[in-house]
Amino acid sequence: MNSHINHIKEKLEQRKSENALRELKVNENLVDFCSNDYLGFASEKEIHFQEKLNLYGATGSRLISGNNKVTEGVEDFLATYYKAESALIFNSGYNANIGVFSSLPQRGDTIIYDELIHASIRDGIRLSNANSFSFKHNDINSLKEKIKNSKGQVWIAVESIYSMDGDEAPLEELVEIAKKYDAALIVDEAHACGVFGEKGEGLVVEHGLENDVFARIVTFGKAFGAHGAVVLGNKLLRDYLINYSRAFIYTTALPLPSVLAMKKAHNFLENNLERIDVLKNLISYFKEKIINNQYQIINSNSAIQCIIVPGNNEIRQLAEKIQNNGFDVRPILSPTVPKGQERLRICIHAFNTEEQIDGLLKVIGI
Ligand SMILES: Cc1ncc(COP(=O)(O)O)c(C=O)c1O
Repeated sequence: MNSHINHIKEKLEQRKSENALRELKVNENLVDFCSNDYLGFASEKEIHFQEKLNLYGATGSRLISGNNKVTEGVEDFLATYYKAESALIFNSGYNANIGVFSSLPQRGDTIIYDELIHASIRDGIRLSNANSFSFKHNDINSLKEKIKNSKGQVWIAVESIYSMDGDEAPLEELVEIAKKYDAALIVDEAHACGVFGEKGEGLVVEHGLENDVFARIVTFGKAFGAHGAVVLGNKLLRDYLINYSRAFIYTTALPLPSVLAMKKAHNFLENNLERIDVLKNLISYFKEKIINNQYQIINSNSAIQCIIVPGNNEIRQLAEKIQNNGFDVRPILSPTVPKGQERLRICIHAFNTEEQIDGLLKVIGI
């Protein structure tokens, strides 16, 4: 047999033997406690149904034929919404992070990132020529130590809400440190926007730090129920990314209905702000219910709530039991999270009910 086939088989066997094989699943008719559709926008016709357009496909990359007034108009709208000087749309959050982190830091620079940073930022860092070091999760002293030993321009990468833990970054302290050491702070707000801030503008705006953060990445495939992402910052940043960010330059732009859905989702949210309150009340309800249980939990005020059940085998079995009882909760296995930190990642949505939460926790044994 060909050696490359053997290699692929061996790698998959390895995953199986570690009980960590990833498989695509279709779970229909279960109560959703796992999607990122926190506000239920993915099923809102008003956001996704498009009136007649003259053009639907982008026809090319933004620098060739894929630029148009619609896309630039949505970027202006998003810049205003998020209190930024400018906005540049990317095809996804993954793409945006690759595009930002591979192009901004230069050879001789240092990127210092939270150890729990999202895979897309890690991949962007790997594509850059800069040196990179992680700091302990949300630990300002660890960050300081790493900055003191760094060379060149320093870039700090954090998430305002961590995707696998749901907890919050200490943004005010991070801004202070960034200022003190002349470092550029970049914040991924994928899981904060739509949930935090008066109009869902995220935690950077909620804390009034929009002028202190060098760049923000907002994704629209989570609370906004759509797709794509935007990089927010000053005009210089936008010009730079248009010139140097390969993930922006060398790809076909998003179809116009996807771009328009970004704006519609924000308009819809402005008209339905009570959805955020409904979600927040359910998050509080869930948190109250899980105080004093037998499991380790991660303290989080976001829509992402985690219950730690160590071991891939154990967490898989528990998740299967939960699914068999009608609730869609997925196990998060190692190596996605460190060994011993395997967990149920429970996402709360504005469309869930207290009865559903009670039912779910009863199956878990809480
Ligand atoms: C923190 C964070 N950043 C970026 C992404 C990627 O965003 P997208 O799904 O739009 O590619 C995700 C999604 O998993 C995420 O959790």
